[in-house]
Amino acid sequence: MKYTVFFTSLDICVFCLILLSRKSSATDFRYDACLPKNCDNGPKIKFPFYIEGLQKSYCGYPGFHLKCGKHGYPMISSTENDYIVENISYPRRSFRVYNAAVLSNLNGRCLPQIRNTTLPIREFQYVNATSLYFLSNCIEPLPNDLLRYKVECPGEKRDNLDLAICDKDENLQKGLKNCEKIVAAPVEVHGDEERIVVGEYKKILRRGFELYYSSSSECSTCEREGGRCGFNTTISKFRCFCPDRPHYKGCRPRRADSGMLYFIFVAFDLWNVIIEKLV
Ligand SMILES: *[C@@H]1O[C@H](CO)[C@@H](O)[C@H](O)[C@H]1NC(C)=O
Ligand SMILES: *[C@@H]1O[C@H](CO)[C@@H](O)[C@H](O)[C@H]1NC(C)=O
Ligand SMILES: *[C@@H]1O[C@H](CO)[C@@H](O)[C@H](O)[C@H]1NC(C)=O
Ligand SMILES: *[C@@H]1O[C@H](CO)[C@@H](O)[C@H](O)[C@H]1NC(C)=O
Repeated sequence: MKYTVFFTSLDICVFCLILLSRKSSATDFRYDACLPKNCDNGPKIKFPFYIEGLQKSYCGYPGFHLKCGKHGYPMISSTENDYIVENISYPRRSFRVYNAAVLSNLNGRCLPQIRNTTLPIREFQYVNATSLYFLSNCIEPLPNDLLRYKVECPGEKRDNLDLAICDKDENLQKGLKNCEKIVAAPVEVHGDEERIVVGEYKKILRRGFELYYSSSSECSTCEREGGRCGFNTTISKFRCFCPDRPHYKGCRPRRADSGMLYFIFVAFDLWNVIIEKLV
């Protein structure tokens, strides 16, 4: 009888220890550091993206760094252009961007300063982009059927003519032949827009385009279990930062460790029963 009481209390102690080991008072600093954040405007930023200066680099995947721009929107940069990140769909693994030059050219000025685009990292892929060509240094006088692509430039004296022509437009080849400088911007055109009407190019540039991203890491288990995803670049491995400490996948104990605890628990109880029988 005495033994039963003794072992039952021991049982409770072990159980308490197991519970205690799961709950420690202070949260892990990496969990705190990877709280999703946003710039003054724009979407919530979390893994695989991170905001330089606001979040630690281990909260994101290498190359997925964003900056908060002067305008308060998150920006991603390639060597040629800055893009404003407008929307991120984490479940679809896609995001929408538009060239930041559009913002500084909203009040009726000429063609934004855009340059040919290369995607910053190979983890990004166009969803559905075509090209909008900007042509300048064109031969004068322009052939008649190119006149309607002229970009109006009110109040600004310009030597060279600027044309905006879509990828699939029947007059593109003629444009390319008559102009010297060519810049191709990725855009998304809807329906009839392939035959661009003067003035529409700004609307199309502002709409931007969508990119898929692949980060080779599955974050949903971690988030579902209350963790925040991250990446340890030292060892090149995904990490789930949980309130207690970093884990491999999610915050709940995986089968291996909970199984072990359970085994000890049951073994202890069996031992208890055997002792009781013997006494
Ligand atoms: C962002 O995406 C969501 C879901 O697809 C959509 O409801 C929302 O309107 C989008 N916001 C912008 C600014 O495009
Ligand atoms: C791509 O564009 C085409 C034509 O505009 C549209 O039918 C299709 O649904 C788009 N695909 C995606 C994945 O958005
Ligand atoms: C930009 O890309 C277009 C088409 O890909 C190419 O013809 C043109 O020479 C490039 N322009 C510059 C300045 O590199
Ligand atoms: C990354 O892993 C190394 C080696 O295990 C460890 O020393 C370091 O603290 C880890 N960094 C983070 C941010 O967890």
